[in-house]
Amino acid sequence: MMSARVRQAPTTEAAASDAAQFILQILRAAVEKRGSASIALSGGSSPKALFSRLAAAKFDWNGVHFFWVDERAVPPGDADSNYRLARELLLEPARIPHRQIHRIQAELEPEEAARRYLAEMRSFFGLSAADLPHFDVVHLGVGPDGHTASLFPDGPLLADRSGIAAAVYVEKLKSWRITLLPGVLLAAGQIVFFAPGEEKREILQRIWGPEYNPARWPAQLIDREGKNVAWFADRAAAEGIADC
Ligand code: 6PG
Repeated sequence: MMSARVRQAPTTEAAASDAAQFILQILRAAVEKRGSASIALSGGSSPKALFSRLAAAKFDWNGVHFFWVDERAVPPGDADSNYRLARELLLEPARIPHRQIHRIQAELEPEEAARRYLAEMRSFFGLSAADLPHFDVVHLGVGPDGHTASLFPDGPLLADRSGIAAAVYVEKLKSWRITLLPGVLLAAGQIVFFAPGEEKREILQRIWGPEYNPARWPAQLIDREGKNVAWFADRAAAEGIADC
């Protein structure tokens, strides 16, 4: 049985379209209420369909500010850059002004990139020392190993509820990442997981299953503890999986 928080569409395209509409509604409401909205984007390959849908929507992007959930330690023009993916598929096609884009400067040394990103968020959200930023929308993906953001299985950051962003060395990828920390993901007004495709099926079964083991499947922590969590998946990923 599917719960209301899991929305399953017949195809990836349809799931992307549903997720895009859902996200845009939240952003529109935030802009109407406060004059601005914030979204943190993930990277990887599955966001492509979602970003294209968002870019194609007739939407007034005025006041919508873009941040990143995580970034690979590469320059902004690199093929692996999460910023580049969003720039090519969403920010440029939707003509988002520069001042609304708050990328992670991952061409710098990772600790320094994390410090600058933290300073950028502090200033944008007007945070005092102990505050966490509250994004209107945090978009997440999930890796086949259960990672989300750059919170990997048995990684060192999962228990950190008060930090905002950190650099982390991911042993299995032999590379550095800069990532938002769990407290920030959990503080989001809305968490939107977009996880289409057959290769997500097994991990969704785990994450939604009866065994709670967030150290092994970090996405499970965000799923179970987030305030408002919505999943968008296609039939290939989610059909027939019991969501608890
Ligand atoms: C990244 C991400 C990451 C992603 C998952 C899923 O930089 O890799 O932000 O956390 O969401 O790895 O990625 P796919 O969509 O490629 O499976």
